[in-house]
Amino acid sequence: MHSVYSRVNNVSATLSTIVMVLLSAIAISSFVFAPHPTGSIEVTSVKVFAGEARRYPHRRQEHAFVTFNLTADLSTLFNWNTKQLFLYLEAEYNNAKGVRNEVIFWDRIVRRKEDAVIAVSGKNKYPFREVSAKFKGSTPANYTLKYNLMPFVGILTYGEAARVTGPIEFPLARDRVE
Ligand SMILES: *[C@@H]1O[C@H](CO)[C@@H](O)[C@H](O)[C@H]1NC(C)=O
Ligand SMILES: *[C@@H]1O[C@H](CO)[C@@H](O)[C@H](O)[C@H]1NC(C)=O
Repeated sequence: MHSVYSRVNNVSATLSTIVMVLLSAIAISSFVFAPHPTGSIEVTSVKVFAGEARRYPHRRQEHAFVTFNLTADLSTLFNWNTKQLFLYLEAEYNNAKGVRNEVIFWDRIVRRKEDAVIAVSGKNKYPFREVSAKFKGSTPANYTLKYNLMPFVGILTYGEAARVTGPIEFPLARDRVE
């Protein structure tokens, strides 16, 4: 009787030791793997042109064209639990009506650590239009490089890897000359 009890006791002590060790290993590994992505972005120009609104051919709507230089090292976000990384450039501003806009105008999916060091000189990949028709009266915009980290196990996490130092004003619209 006594020996059975002490054996059960030993087994459960061993099990809780194993669980403790596993929990600390997970805690330590997430500490060790705490990501430190680094990057910098520079918006080299913002131009605004008046154009036709999509779906409303006779209504005018302004389009912004952004060119940028981006460098980032996101390799620290890659570990045993990283499935893929969704990177995007976002402009945040409030329009003349006070509505907050967060516009994604460029993105990239990174699946391998080897591709996680990036240098891009580019321009917007997606149309950047102001829904209220004009950028005039909007606040200057903050430009940021953000990411969503999709793990194999666990939840999606979000982060910011770079930010343009100060907000940038939208210029007045020009007529498009091409
Ligand atoms: C942007 O990057 C390109 C190529 O990397 C470089 O030639 C250009 O000088 C950069 N522009 C600025 C304003 O730093
Ligand atoms: C842009 O960033 C500045 C400084 O971080 C902040 O004060 C401002 O509210 C931001 N603007 C918008 C539209 O989010």
